[in-house]
Amino acid sequence: MRKKVIAGNWKMNMLPNEAIDFITEFAPLVKDTKHEVILCVPYTDLFYALLHAQGTNIKIGAQNMHWEEKGAYTGEISAQMLKSIGVEYVIIGHSERRQYFAETDETVNKKIKSALANNLKPIVCVGETLEQREQGVTEKIITTQVEKALEGISAESLAQIIIAYEPIWAIGTGKTATKEDANDTIKQIRKKIAEIYGQNEAERVIIQYGGSVKSSNAKELFEMSDIDGGLVGGASLKPEEFSKIVKFDE
Ligand code: PGA
Repeated sequence: MRKKVIAGNWKMNMLPNEAIDFITEFAPLVKDTKHEVILCVPYTDLFYALLHAQGTNIKIGAQNMHWEEKGAYTGEISAQMLKSIGVEYVIIGHSERRQYFAETDETVNKKIKSALANNLKPIVCVGETLEQREQGVTEKIITTQVEKALEGISAESLAQIIIAYEPIWAIGTGKTATKEDANDTIKQIRKKIAEIYGQNEAERVIIQYGGSVKSSNAKELFEMSDIDGGLVGGASLKPEEFSKIVKFDE
């Protein structure tokens, strides 16, 4: 049985003192959960978050990275840099980065390879626009994104990767995919992975749903056969609310 992984994506929110207050309040609320809990925080919060998450079951992730190890890339942060301070996870290919910061399937693939080479676990985001969904091309778009993201990645490395299916029209809009639609699309992702790596690998890979997840819909989504937890934006900014999402089945 696959475990459930619930990750918060704070995006460009939370100053260090707010991050510390959050973790202080949140950690005791989720200390007994059997699910995996990750907070993906801004670079400027990483150090504080890591320090305050020490001795808790909360894992810390970043929200982006550069694929090169070092060099003349002003303003960028490498996988090696993240790993050096104790970061465990990194979101790669979030639709906001694809949309506003010229992230492509090619850069996503390079970043995944660099993350894996540095023992960081990538949370790889894929998702279709509303227009694409309405045109009926969701499966093609998503499976192509998955195929390109995973190009040249071994089955062994696949075990370190989390995939997050996030329909773009559901992010930050309050519109959630129906549990059936989300589950169906995630099944299509699993099918694509089975074609590339085999059925066993496909059964093992963690695939989250993201897009307007909140405490009122987390249970119905996360209890679906193929949804292995969620990547949560807005609702991960409040300790109490996010703890209810983590404890969806209690
Ligand atoms: P949302 O964001 O939960 O605020 O819709 C999800 C995400 O962008 O990862």
